[in-house]
Amino acid sequence: MSERTLVLVKPDGVRRGLVGEVIGRIERKGFTLAALDLRVMDRETVERHYEEHVGKPFYPSLVEFMTSAPSVAMVVEGERAIESFRTLAGATDPIKAAPGTIRGDLATVTQQNIVHGSDSPESAAREIKNFFPGLA
Ligand code: TYD
Ligand code: MG
Repeated sequence: MSERTLVLVKPDGVRRGLVGEVIGRIERKGFTLAALDLRVMDRETVERHYEEHVGKPFYPSLVEFMTSAPSVAMVVEGERAIESFRTLAGATDPIKAAPGTIRGDLATVTQQNIVHGSDSPESAAREIKNFFPGLA
């Protein structure tokens, strides 16, 4: 079942030069890119993207961080891409993320956990539209 998911290399990943590393893992897994864009996110885009986290203690700092520097947004396509990319990314807390995952191998801090991946078909559709409204 081919799906599309929204993946972000967040500001920490771009700053650390890990864009190639993340895209390499996605491509080696067998997925393809349907869209790709480097940008500094504006506050409105971040607020729409993380709408489910409004009011949580980490939310203000998360919005600040996400608008602080460029991220890479991409649409990743392939067999069960939504769940599969979450597996490649690893747990949200990089200390709990398994070795072999992006976060498990490359991160130590929850806010700076390098990547985002949509968590359901509904989130993927909403997030893709937020970043790539013109995508067919
Ligand atoms: P969440 O959607 O729970 O995690 P995931 O990225 O794995 O889907 O949270 C979104 C981001 O918010 C998460 O990647 C990093 C940040 N965050 C914190 O800074 N502190 C926290 O306690 C949590 C749960 C998330
Ligand atoms: Mg999430």
